[in-house]
Amino acid sequence: MANLLKGKKGIIFGALDENSIAWKTALRIKEEGGEFTLTNAPIAMRLGTINKLAETCNAQVIPADATSEADLNNLFTKSMEVLGGKLDFVLHSIGMSPNIRKGKEYGDMNYEWYLKTLDISALSFHKVLQTSEKLDALNEWASVVGLSYIAAQRAYPDYTDMAQAKAMLESIARSYGQRYGTKKKVRVNTISQSPTKTTAGTGISGFDVFFDFADMMSPLGNASAEDCANYIAVMFSDYTRMVTMQNLMHDGGFSSSGITNNLIERLTK
Ligand SMILES: NC(=O)c1ccc[n+]([C@@H]2O[C@H](COP(=O)([O-])OP(=O)(O)OC[C@H]3O[C@@H](n4cnc5c(N)ncnc54)[C@H](O)[C@@H]3O)[C@@H](O)[C@H]2O)c1
Repeated sequence: MANLLKGKKGIIFGALDENSIAWKTALRIKEEGGEFTLTNAPIAMRLGTINKLAETCNAQVIPADATSEADLNNLFTKSMEVLGGKLDFVLHSIGMSPNIRKGKEYGDMNYEWYLKTLDISALSFHKVLQTSEKLDALNEWASVVGLSYIAAQRAYPDYTDMAQAKAMLESIARSYGQRYGTKKKVRVNTISQSPTKTTAGTGISGFDVFFDFADMMSPLGNASAEDCANYIAVMFSDYTRMVTMQNLMHDGGFSSSGITNNLIERLTK
């Protein structure tokens, strides 16, 4: 495939390193003819790796803490300047829990950090949407995608406060999707992705076990970051114009499987 996204312009949040889902997505979108600015939290910029991606994609980097309305305002305004007009797609690929980072158990949450988790991982999605609406930054039929995880619907012991963040993220996609669709024909969806070996993913304790479990419970196996990038490209294309307010399972069939022969064989050994 090529040129699926020719003429489309957008913003990609969350490319930290080459394992990031946003990193793979940037490369895919570039291949499909899309143009974009790249952004991440100023603190993540210090790694410097994003500049490598920016060079490959011929994209400008505009730092923004996704919890700061002022930063988002600057990001959307500058992106429209750099790209020469309104935008057609936005990828929100952001997640962080200070409680998980610091190894806090669910029965011992630090509530200041809990609020930070929700602000960074969920409320920022609303801030992105509200900023773009106020600036009238999106073209009709633009597509906004956030990345979720099935812990929004099911309990995972070590996913702690991120589970609530994902539930909120999916809810924002429905509520803002309804508003933005009615006002501007903009669509808003979340993609619920398989466990993926990235910085955010592997930061969760027991990750390797639930990565393997999900793989065995999915008839197609776990979806990779590259698969996710392909799906996001399709969601940004005109082939999905009528899809909005959805949480889209991208998990190799995991969410519809009760048990699989693969797992039965493993457990009867
Ligand atoms: N890796 C997985 O197993 C998995 C599974 C399902 C969903 N997801 C979701 O995919 C998305 C991308 O994560 P990833 O797995 O590519 O990991 P990643 O660590 O590469 O990406 C997370 C990004 O969030 C950014 N970020 C953190 N705080 C920020 C802030 N205040 N402002 C702006 N950006 C900020 C980080 O700098 C980083 O680039 C996240 O929403 C994550 O929850 C990941």
